[in-house]
Amino acid sequence: MGSLSLLGTLLITLVGVGVLANKIHQLNRNDFPPDFVFGAGTSAYQVEGASAEDGRSPSIWDTFTHAGEMLDNSTADVSADQYHKYKEDVKLMHDMGLDAYRFSISWPRLIPGGRGAVNPKGLEYYNNLIDELLKYGIQPHVTLHHFDIPQVLEDEYGGWLSERIVRDFTMYADICFREFGDRVTYWSTLNEPNAFSMAAYDIGSFPPQHCSSPYGFRNCSVGNSSTEPYIVTHNQLLAHASVAQLYKKKYKSKQQGQIGMTILTYWFVPNTNKTEDIAATQRALDFMHGWFLNPLVFGDYPDTMKENVGPRLPSFSKCQSALVRGSFDFIGINHYVTIAISDNSQSARNDTRDYMKDMSVLFVSNSTPSASGLPILPDTPWGMQGVLEYIKTSYGNPPVFVHENGYAMPYTRDLNDIGRVNYLNGYLEYLLRAVRNGSNAKGYFIWSFVDVFELLFGYKGTYGLYEVDFNDKDRPRRARLSAHWYSNFLKKKSNLYIEEPTVSSKSHSAND
Ligand code: BGC
Repeated sequence: MGSLSLLGTLLITLVGVGVLANKIHQLNRNDFPPDFVFGAGTSAYQVEGASAEDGRSPSIWDTFTHAGEMLDNSTADVSADQYHKYKEDVKLMHDMGLDAYRFSISWPRLIPGGRGAVNPKGLEYYNNLIDELLKYGIQPHVTLHHFDIPQVLEDEYGGWLSERIVRDFTMYADICFREFGDRVTYWSTLNEPNAFSMAAYDIGSFPPQHCSSPYGFRNCSVGNSSTEPYIVTHNQLLAHASVAQLYKKKYKSKQQGQIGMTILTYWFVPNTNKTEDIAATQRALDFMHGWFLNPLVFGDYPDTMKENVGPRLPSFSKCQSALVRGSFDFIGINHYVTIAISDNSQSARNDTRDYMKDMSVLFVSNSTPSASGLPILPDTPWGMQGVLEYIKTSYGNPPVFVHENGYAMPYTRDLNDIGRVNYLNGYLEYLLRAVRNGSNAKGYFIWSFVDVFELLFGYKGTYGLYEVDFNDKDRPRRARLSAHWYSNFLKKKSNLYIEEPTVSSKSHSAND
């Protein structure tokens, strides 16, 4: 498949509004086990703003946006300004009835030099945010890296391309555990390391924009799409494992926390019943999920990858394999869409290949195209169950947090996001089916709590339960219909679902 459609699937963008019109059964949290955690999330670069304030240094995303690389030319310099508005946001979370908030720590805010001195203002901000959450009984679920490595480390040694990242990432994590671990017990080391390797090092659509011809989504000045995605993944796995080992040895007995990694998951279905398409679907699952899950669970890459990538796939030493294997308490998954797969084996016979050619499948668009023209099958909430059942049967049913699930809509001032409500309700239904069928899923987080700076399409598309007015310097929040719906779900008022919604344009909190 072409790079453009890979980019498209990574954007998970603007699925046609109204595709999911009439809805199914309305659920509430009582349908789930009592200890099941419900939350919503954001990430540091996307939500905080205050990009040059209080000693924060640039991350690779600041460099990227300031170079005008976004499709809408935007930056996240101010974004939703959570850095200044965290108290208001935490109050909204409380009013909504969230159990948990998933956010990430900005490495360049906490340690502007990448390693060494801690920024007291950065420390203060995350301490305040955590304390504010705990004041309302909201659990913090913290990610350490959400695509935003400090630019200084990129400049110094090439960031995730170098094994030197393992040491620096471990030192950064050590500081986070030491400073926040008395109050934070859920840690995810990396957000979507698989998407990062593909987007940043195969097609170059994410910073640091590495790719090589003819595989780039754009012309990259540096990169090697045949090798770098694999090297970066290897370093991410080693860095994750090193952090997990540190936590286990130094903090776990005292802090009693859990550590995991969060991968981007698609559900893939064969486009036909042909044997080749069924095998291609397995290959897609191996390349997409197994790339990380096989090392984490079994200590090595999937055989299909070894076969197709050959010597370009780094190998684990015995010692590394032992370190990586089992280095998690839970797996985080981000899940948005399902894609039909057909075989494209001949692409693995090309002399030069990138990650996608190595996977040698086609992402098939055999359905009404979505608003963005992407090869996404519409109305596939069952994909959630598909992914969870697959993890259950293929990877020993580890505890899973669904760290992201959400629905993109074009930004408008209209608060009636009925398409989002129907989408979320449908995915929750299939999450529940998976749980009832024995999946070890433990929690679910909607992306995103408020509108944020969206990767690649900036402020043109939104996922927020709360609308943020990015044209107003105060960045006011207003509850969308989905905020009311989620609050009703959480407060067990399922009968309050409104089929033909009316929400006041003045509405503020989901509790109003
Ligand atoms: C990422 C988020 C992003 C969301 C919506 C996920 O892949 O983790 O950072 O905003 O998708 O595109």
